[in-house]
Amino acid sequence: MSSYDVIIIGSGPGGYVCAIRCAQLGLKVACVEGRETLGGTCLNVGCIPSKALLHASHMLHEAEHNFAAMGLKGKSPSVDWKQMLSYKQDTIDTNTKGIEFLFKKNKVDWIKGWASIPEAGKVKVGDDVHEAKNIIIASGSEVSPLKGVEVDEKVVVTSTGALELTKVPKKMVVIGAGVIGLELGSVYKRLGAEVTVIEYLDAITPGMDGEVQKSFQRLLKKQGMEFVMGAAVQKTEATKTKAKVTYKLKKDDSEHEIDADVVLLATGRRPYTEGLGLDSLGVEMSERGQIKVGKDWQTNVKGIYAIGDCIDGPMLAHKAEDEGMAAAEQVAGKHGHVNYGVIPGVIYTHPEVANVGETEETLKKEGRAYKVGKFSFMGNGRAKANFAADGFVKIIVDKETDRILGAHIIGPSAGDLIHEICVAMEFGASAEDLALTCHAHPTYSEAVREAALACGDGPIHS
Ligand code: NAI
Repeated sequence: MSSYDVIIIGSGPGGYVCAIRCAQLGLKVACVEGRETLGGTCLNVGCIPSKALLHASHMLHEAEHNFAAMGLKGKSPSVDWKQMLSYKQDTIDTNTKGIEFLFKKNKVDWIKGWASIPEAGKVKVGDDVHEAKNIIIASGSEVSPLKGVEVDEKVVVTSTGALELTKVPKKMVVIGAGVIGLELGSVYKRLGAEVTVIEYLDAITPGMDGEVQKSFQRLLKKQGMEFVMGAAVQKTEATKTKAKVTYKLKKDDSEHEIDADVVLLATGRRPYTEGLGLDSLGVEMSERGQIKVGKDWQTNVKGIYAIGDCIDGPMLAHKAEDEGMAAAEQVAGKHGHVNYGVIPGVIYTHPEVANVGETEETLKKEGRAYKVGKFSFMGNGRAKANFAADGFVKIIVDKETDRILGAHIIGPSAGDLIHEICVAMEFGASAEDLALTCHAHPTYSEAVREAALACGDGPIHS
């Protein structure tokens, strides 16, 4: 039996980051992972592989739509799907091996297998029981099932199967216009599939700024994606090669059918805690199956902590990473902290969509007085040169103090641009602070400065 200061269960972005930070803080640490490779959903079947396919399919889109206009003549490339999948696999491999390297460098033990917690202070993997002064659960999430939809990961797939299709389908139906549906829907649209997204609500990407939702949907439609809004999927019926999706329109209860070669189920994820033995330990859970934790990420059972997708909050890799670092510090007797008000969200379509902080909708509900500064990428020289002028930057500030409360970007590199605003928010900055900061020309980030200027005396280029 080996004994540790901390054992972390799960090696996704929450777990592996937590393990490394624990080691850096001088703790003896092990991380349990049952998959063949480290990195969890994000590195193996989520964020990283989907970004490889988004990148490759975007390159194709550029070749097909913009190369000739830039004076790059010749036949557009054709898709070698096998090679694209192998590029995606290489991307996964270099990333997962990178974590293995970091574990060795930081002297984190990888315990291979699936863990359970027979009692506080003990972690069982296979027949071995390991002792741990502290246990941190970072077991992540899994796809939520949808009644009437039976997943076979071949014709009716989740995001996992969608990254492994044997060929590019002719017709794809996506259930759910959330992050996964739109990212993977975009990939297959650009690769030549007809893509129809069926969404229960009347707007895509729930919770996002209303103006961004509308622009985003308009741009995706322009790219050829079709939407059926206000429609609840009732069931799918699949054969070995095809499926039929039945949905009901909310406005008149009418039932409709649509055929597809592949159906992607993307209606959300739920915490994954199976097999850990939390019930018999008496660990408190929420009604939604999340592990309940206090401000220090400790559960009601002393010495057992939880972070990431299996607790409350947005299911985002970087939220889990932040919690991983903070929980490690708590365990080491320090003061780990996460500012949940400044957690950016990014959708890696083209254009990208990024947001942080409050939306106009949430502020209206709170009855808070605010001002909006907006700037279109049409006024940004770099974006125009790169055929990337669709979209805008919108900054929301407190009407009295000018303090930045939130920001919403749709446009080129939105996922990178948002971080300037995140840093500003962490420092309690005003829009004027951003506006007074010199921004290099010509860059996309000038659009952020212009939106900040729009909160004051006005932008220059609009
Ligand atoms: P989601 O919660 O983002 O979106 C699900 C959508 O499905 C919602 O719009 C919902 O209204 C709709 N829906 C639910 N039931 C339906 C039905 N019966 N018929 C039609 N529509 C229905 O969930 P998604 O996209 O599956 O993502 C899961 C999690 O993974 C999210 O928390 C997301 O933040 C995270 N994720 C984040 C990524 C990123 O940050 N880029 C990438 C991929 C996933």
